[in-house]
Amino acid sequence: MSIQSQSRPDITINTLAQMKRAGEKFVCLTAYDYCSAHAASTAGIEVLLVGDSLGMVIQGHDSSLPVTIEDIAYHVRCAKQGNKGSLLAADLPFMSYYSETASLKSAAILMREGAQMVKLEGGAWLAETTRLLTERGIPVCAHMGLTPQSINHLGGYRVQGRDPEQGQAIIDEAKILQQAGASVILIECVPETLGVALTNSLDVPVIGIGAGAGTDGQILVWHDLLGLYPGKTAKFVKNFLEGNKFGIQGALAEYVTQVKQGKFPDPEHSY
Ligand code: KIV
Repeated sequence: MSIQSQSRPDITINTLAQMKRAGEKFVCLTAYDYCSAHAASTAGIEVLLVGDSLGMVIQGHDSSLPVTIEDIAYHVRCAKQGNKGSLLAADLPFMSYYSETASLKSAAILMREGAQMVKLEGGAWLAETTRLLTERGIPVCAHMGLTPQSINHLGGYRVQGRDPEQGQAIIDEAKILQQAGASVILIECVPETLGVALTNSLDVPVIGIGAGAGTDGQILVWHDLLGLYPGKTAKFVKNFLEGNKFGIQGALAEYVTQVKQGKFPDPEHSY
């Protein structure tokens, strides 16, 4: 295991597209502050996400719903200070993109703070919003599958797309979002077979979390990767710090290595 320290070109959405074309896996991790962003980006992680998961892991709420655009903006500002060339993405939080005007205003706040891509949760209904944002120079990552901002509507944190019809609907809606200009699709908590089918159906890179090893990239939450979250964690979560004698840098390096080599997630961490 080697700990990456040499410099690399800055990562952009084009880098991710090239990596997909080359069949090279890329690695993503949430980061909410200077130190986590610095550690993750210097470990060779391609994408940092200021996720609205901060509602749970930073603020201690039981969902991401209380998170505001000001919260995300503050953490983008902090993470930007530590980022060394990773692509810095940020979540548009609950109800910050309820209308097309609201989405433009909210995205502008995050981009001014240093975000380089915004992520929003939903399917085909976001096509027009995606088109408006991308036409105005704001890269979009569409988060599909288990969308935690809709937890009350979904009725719990459950695997999505198990039924073949639901799985096909996710693929069809992802194609609509790709057509509308989305640069990346993120798919959460679906069967591994759907992760593969979605990845093969799209030209844009697909990031998976709980979607098996077949997606182009993987993402985890910082606190899950280090086993810091005291609450219940999902089956797809792996603590890379446990038993790692090189500490946090070692855990990050191991995560990078295992994703790049297609060893994480293994069947134990997939559906
Ligand atoms: O909010 C977040 O951290 C996320 C990741 C879990 C994908 O959306």
